[in-house]
Amino acid sequence: MPLPSSVLVVGSGGREHALVRSLLGSPAQPRVICAPGNAGIAQDVPCFPVAVDNIAGLIALAQQERVEFVVVGPEVPLALGLVDELIKIGLPAYGPKADGARLEASKIFTKEILLKYLIPTAAAAFFDDADRAIAYLRARPAPIVVKADGLAAGKGVIVAQTHSEAEAAVRSLLDLPKQSKIENQKSKILIEDCLYGEETSQLVVVSGRDYVMLPTAQDHKRIGDGDTGPNTGGMGAYSPAEVVTPELFARIEREIVRPSVNAIADEGIDFRGTLFIGLMLTPTGPSVIEYNARFGDPETQVVLPRLATDLLALLWAAARGELAGVKLAVKPDYALCVVIAAQGYPEAFPKGDVITLPDPSALPPATFIYHAGTAKNPAGQVVTNGGRVLGATALAPSLAEAAARAYAACDAVQCSSKYFRRDIGARQLNRR
Ligand code: AMP
Ligand code: GLY
Repeated sequence: MPLPSSVLVVGSGGREHALVRSLLGSPAQPRVICAPGNAGIAQDVPCFPVAVDNIAGLIALAQQERVEFVVVGPEVPLALGLVDELIKIGLPAYGPKADGARLEASKIFTKEILLKYLIPTAAAAFFDDADRAIAYLRARPAPIVVKADGLAAGKGVIVAQTHSEAEAAVRSLLDLPKQSKIENQKSKILIEDCLYGEETSQLVVVSGRDYVMLPTAQDHKRIGDGDTGPNTGGMGAYSPAEVVTPELFARIEREIVRPSVNAIADEGIDFRGTLFIGLMLTPTGPSVIEYNARFGDPETQVVLPRLATDLLALLWAAARGELAGVKLAVKPDYALCVVIAAQGYPEAFPKGDVITLPDPSALPPATFIYHAGTAKNPAGQVVTNGGRVLGATALAPSLAEAAARAYAACDAVQCSSKYFRRDIGARQLNRR
């Protein structure tokens, strides 16, 4: 089967900008379009204003534009069954169907699979009753972790330092009116033991029982320097993550990745997409914090530029069930991405602030600015349109040089509400 000559990328973040750029770099030279995209993606490819939760609209767009392949970025259209609908009309897509997306949409579903297949993870129990949940957690040591079952855009996890903090979290989550469009049954929560160690993100391209592990990466989840303040979607990332030595990488494959891929297949799910495994590297070994059913953001921005393999061929092979035997070629360079957010994120932040971007020719070598929450105002200026606005990303022979280049790009961006962390990559740089 030849490679597709046209591709629709669904999404509007920095992750999708990185996907679009990598697909445009394919030797097959596909026509790439995006929905809904952002101001930066629109400079590279045609964008169409169809929202990611408008499944009928996305199907209509794919048909109208006669694309041959759809690559889905975010979790919401996956959980709403976009890929199921695409398959019904015979259009190949990269991304799991709704049954696979449940691995991200329901933390309880995932935990049940992890426990059933003895994949290392924190001990946990599930509740829909606050009094029972509180009785359980009082018998466990603090800190203890309280999680909402459903998709909560990163806001459903509370790592409680004390029992009283955990009890307040239980009450707030179980008394919360159901907000999710995807589930309308009774609220449920999970209470799990706290894991200690460094976190890493392992992205795996999966096609049934076949898989390809992408290069290692770590992100910085907290808003403030020194990993302080509230959690965010991710404030920066780098690849490779040297804390994952070749020996540890092999152990992660043996103890986590292969058993996870087989467990998902054994459950009857034909998963063709990215399995993003959030890992805690505990003193006794790697342990699964969560599965996501999509590429990570900003991990994708640092992983894709390091691939020497054609991304289009890789994702197409996975979607078509032809991944067996596919090997990945990875560049030796380091990649680092600094997220530029709007001041105030992850709480309230302004929108519509004018951004002045440096001319790409004025940036250091192998340095690019991916767009995330950007739009054009009626005057045609690029303006802020989301919490995470841009991702200054660089590839270099060392992590220190990649950081210097990415930070030079950050400094060259002008925007009155610009905020970014100053220490992306510092943990790895300081370890040497
Ligand atoms: P999740 O949405 O499950 O990825 O959780 C968000 C964040 O909460 C993770 O990235 C961790 O930093 C933290 N977290 C989740 N579960 C645990 C756990 N069992 N122990 C310690 N930290 C956790
Ligand atoms: N950076 C973490 C995520 O994409 O969920």
